[in-house]
Amino acid sequence: MAGSNNGRSRLDDSSEYDRKSEVQAFDDSKVGVKGILDAGVTKLPRMFLHNQPVIENKLDSDAATKFSIPVIDFEGLRKNAAQRADIVQEIRDACENWGFFQIVHHEIPSSVMEEVLEGVRHFHEQDTEVKKEFYSRDVTRKFTYNTNYDLHKAPTANWRDTFYCVMAPNPPNPKEIPKVCRDVMFKYMEYVMKLGLTLYELLSEALGLEPNHLKDIECAKGLFIAGHYYPACPEPDFTLGLSDHTDSGFLTILLQDQIGGLQVFHKNHWIDVPFMRGAVIVNIGDLMQLITNDKFKSVHHRVLAKNAGPRISVASLFRMQFQEGSESRLYGPIKELLSEENPPKYREPSRKDYIAYLYNKGLDGTSLLSQYFKLQK
Ligand code: OGA
Ligand code: NI
Repeated sequence: MAGSNNGRSRLDDSSEYDRKSEVQAFDDSKVGVKGILDAGVTKLPRMFLHNQPVIENKLDSDAATKFSIPVIDFEGLRKNAAQRADIVQEIRDACENWGFFQIVHHEIPSSVMEEVLEGVRHFHEQDTEVKKEFYSRDVTRKFTYNTNYDLHKAPTANWRDTFYCVMAPNPPNPKEIPKVCRDVMFKYMEYVMKLGLTLYELLSEALGLEPNHLKDIECAKGLFIAGHYYPACPEPDFTLGLSDHTDSGFLTILLQDQIGGLQVFHKNHWIDVPFMRGAVIVNIGDLMQLITNDKFKSVHHRVLAKNAGPRISVASLFRMQFQEGSESRLYGPIKELLSEENPPKYREPSRKDYIAYLYNKGLDGTSLLSQYFKLQK
């Protein structure tokens, strides 16, 4: 409770507070969260403090024993039709009930996964002056780095720096990507694209569609990669690494390191997504929920701040960005899935509209889908 003296909230100072100036000064400094930590902060600047102490629902031992996110083994995928059908069934269950799953025995080599996590680390740990050149909120650039893409819109800042790299449909000129992570970004992107295409086949089948359906409607056309860096946090109970949100694209393929902290909201509990060596995490995004007319779920998730770190993760989002043309393309529920009993639940935003809404809204815990695109009953 804000204002209580249980020591859990630090937002009990009701004096005048000019949040806008604090955020602007921090943004102008271009040093990122890592920069202020390196400078020696031991108390969180006010802009990072969440209204509600986040510790209260961090530990949910009840949930930890009741639920665990599905793990799907791709080993049998190319062995025979029966094993493939089992995998399709597991994927259907996971997408309908969880919106999240982990995959083991996929085709991304562990060495490449380790290398890309290291590449992200190297980018964030290079000299601040070099990094500053990339600090930007210009969404038309192919490679940028900043603290929270929604810093000026969201109610509270998160303890995290991120670089963003637009990889498809038009890959960047190699020179646009910093040297410290250039080669591995291209290498990793090839594997992610391949796994994405495999997933779209399986998801299409899970929806009862032709295997090429999701690919043919260009779900794999746009891809951008976010390299997150969550520095160790001096006061992890008062902020988050990444606020409660749903992902905006069709599908996200995520790598996390062993620090942990990712949680998924499932049946009214925050469930930890444990680190599994060699596994990748996959989750459904809002666009997939929209085109499947709510069959597949885009679920809320967040990342806790931790004393330990830095935590590194790499999120590959299948979604077009601003750059690539065909802005008038519409995204709507797939006609083959609709019927009299299952009428469309969403309108069909153009890509341009969708992205405009997205970037106009900070991560405030509400969903873009229900707020803007859901049809009224
Ligand atoms: C994201 C995300 C989780 C993580 O980038 O959308 O949810 O573990 N990332 O960094
Ligand atoms: Ni996410």
